[in-house]
Amino acid sequence: MSSVMQLGYLVFEVSDLDAWEKFGTKILGMSVVDERGDRGFSLRMDGYQQRFFIEAGPADDLAAIGWQVKGPAELEGIAKRLTDAGHQVLQGTPEQAAARNVQALIRFEDPAGNPGEVFYGPKMADTPFESKVVRSGFVADEQGLGHVVIVSKDDAAHQAFYETIFGFKLSDYIRCEYFGHKIDVTFMHANRRHHSLAFGGGQNKRIHHFMVQAKSMDEVGMCYDRFLFSGGMVHQTLGRHPNDKMFSFYGYTPSGFHFEFGYGGVEVDDASWEPTTYGKVSEWGHHPPQLLTKAYRKAKEGGKS
Ligand SMILES: [Fe+2]
Repeated sequence: MSSVMQLGYLVFEVSDLDAWEKFGTKILGMSVVDERGDRGFSLRMDGYQQRFFIEAGPADDLAAIGWQVKGPAELEGIAKRLTDAGHQVLQGTPEQAAARNVQALIRFEDPAGNPGEVFYGPKMADTPFESKVVRSGFVADEQGLGHVVIVSKDDAAHQAFYETIFGFKLSDYIRCEYFGHKIDVTFMHANRRHHSLAFGGGQNKRIHHFMVQAKSMDEVGMCYDRFLFSGGMVHQTLGRHPNDKMFSFYGYTPSGFHFEFGYGGVEVDDASWEPTTYGKVSEWGHHPPQLLTKAYRKAKEGGKS
């Protein structure tokens, strides 16, 4: 079956281009491709010409996920499976493909209404990627840019959609309580990266977070420092997840959804991989500092601390 190879790009519609440019370059350590225009800009992090399209608009949310396939036959195969399953497929125009710097693309919506694109033939950069901020660089290229976590409505239907039409495989589930919230997240992979896609319900925006993975552990600490000293708000402190073993922290992007900056994620070998269900979000850490502070204050006021 023709399958998605990797998470090729993400498109965000953002209300503050200036803040995103600072965030993308000074915090995440990516570089702006070409000159920034009024309508937006794109960011580079590896051998691909660009991985993030930052577009001006009021939504402050995900505008598209770009899934890469090998070539025209694979694109055709996915378009046919979408159509056969009753989903609408829009053929991208040459102008739309040119805007993404790919040879061809189609557009679709997943069962929760998240906008997706499938493409082949991305433009590769002429020079190796170098960052003065993240000197060791990112784990990306053939593993894709990282992962994206999006909203779902019916988890089983969502999983079946991405399995049967796009060829994603189940990695595992996390189901637990987290500071009064019910967590039920499904993790799926398209290559060796533990997950390129994850989804769950109970989210206000289409996207919960995206993750990029540095090649050294110190980069995570240095990004944490840069983010704190820029006045950024941490969403979850440093910690390690039980399933992909990612050592990471989460912060708020200028659009209000989150980013995860990590190191050391496990890789999946399909020959021996056994999907399982985890009962906690993290082995340690990944705590929400604002909620902890409130809980601490409340405990003190109650004379318990
Ligand atoms: Fe994540």
